[in-house]
Amino acid sequence: MRSGASAPGKVILFGEHFVVYGAPAILCAIDRRVAVTASANGTGRISISSALGSLESPPGRGISEIAPALRPLYFLADRMLAGRQGTGGIDITVESEIPPGAGLGSSSACCVAAAAAVSGLGSRIPRGRVLELAVEAEQTIFAGTSGADCAACMHGGIIRYSRDGGFSSIGQGRGFSLVIADSGTKHSTGSVVGTVGRFRGENRAEFEGMCREAAGLVEGVPGLLARGDAAGVGRLMNQNQECLRRIGVSNTTLDEMVRIGQGAAHGAKITGAGGGGCVVCLAGPGGPGPALRGFERAGYGCFEASIDCRGLDTF
Ligand code: MEV
Repeated sequence: MRSGASAPGKVILFGEHFVVYGAPAILCAIDRRVAVTASANGTGRISISSALGSLESPPGRGISEIAPALRPLYFLADRMLAGRQGTGGIDITVESEIPPGAGLGSSSACCVAAAAAVSGLGSRIPRGRVLELAVEAEQTIFAGTSGADCAACMHGGIIRYSRDGGFSSIGQGRGFSLVIADSGTKHSTGSVVGTVGRFRGENRAEFEGMCREAAGLVEGVPGLLARGDAAGVGRLMNQNQECLRRIGVSNTTLDEMVRIGQGAAHGAKITGAGGGGCVVCLAGPGGPGPALRGFERAGYGCFEASIDCRGLDTF
């Protein structure tokens, strides 16, 4: 038996980090995907093959014994086997178009696609349960995840997400065009979130003020999206970037990239944890060309992305 699923990567347009502490965020799925295939095998073992490594192991091992990049996949296969009679195992293969450690949701898209592919080997479960499984799998590498990234990769389109309110679709961003530029420095979401946690511990009142400010920006976005006001959304993205800079997740390279993006597009900001990774720009009236050329001239890898409205897909 064989079951496959794919899920898109994502960018965060508003609210990363603040979402961990309860503020709302706005995320958007992008047209770069991760595909996962799961097949039942007769070996009784879990075997994983991905660009981030491979593994062949019996089920039932402690998750800390597994290489971090493969933990979510092992977790999902192990859990599936624990709930089943018999002596079979599971083979998992992963193919990804999303660079890892760049803030574009490669691990969340992988968790969502793997949760759907592996659970597809058993009896059908609702999509909400697939999302819960994906978040549990992601927690094996980043215990403090807000769950926002998995929700975006699962749902597709543009979503508003908060920890207590879950997610709702706020549109498909028709006519909006994104440019993504990569600093070339990988980051670990868990460690950048840890740095922000320390900043918050030492600057509680200031951090709470910024949470309120970031939440206020989010509230303005659905109306602007509904009116197709890309310039308005871009202005709010620039304000959000200022909050991210103040909590210390930008650096000289990211500041330079944001300057290039803001000079050539409606708005530009870090996307995801920061500390490295990518900058996302909302293209201006001249389309994506000016931002793409600006990043290329400065030597940064960049590409135009469109908004993915498919979300999780099974095959
Ligand atoms: C990472 O893509 C987004 C963060 O807000 C962490 C999270 O929401 O889990 C930094």
